[in-house]
Amino acid sequence: MFDFKFDWSAEMELGIPILDEQHKEIFRIARNIEQLLIQNCENVKPRDLVNIVCELREFVSYHFYEEERMMEKAGFDRIILKEHKKNHMYFYTYVQQIDLPKMAKDPNGELKILRDNIQDWIFSHMLCEDVTIVKTLKENLTEEELKNGITN
Ligand SMILES: [Fe+2]
Repeated sequence: MFDFKFDWSAEMELGIPILDEQHKEIFRIARNIEQLLIQNCENVKPRDLVNIVCELREFVSYHFYEEERMMEKAGFDRIILKEHKKNHMYFYTYVQQIDLPKMAKDPNGELKILRDNIQDWIFSHMLCEDVTIVKTLKENLTEEELKNGITN
């Protein structure tokens, strides 16, 4: 396994401020998980696990919602939009279904699985599929929308 510690780097940027900010936020949550694993989850309480998983769930659903609204406003092809939403739904469903009681019994083992799944999602979706939507978003949305999202 290669050494990936969720450090953000400039080449990961899409050049769309709101999406870059949100992607960075997902990295921040993942680094918190990594931090717990580095400490072998010593002194981790069930409450800490609930907080981190809920934060991830909330942020992922907010981020996907924003990104999909931007894609809709930018007039993406129906099939591309459907496919992109399907990929979001796959990860969204996964984070919603994380078994917290199971994680409380084995925080180290379960957080490792979560960390690996976030990492896989970053590489397969954020750094691959999201790159393919940049051009159309930039061509069809205003500077304001690229910076703040679709506000109305
Ligand atoms: Fe996406």
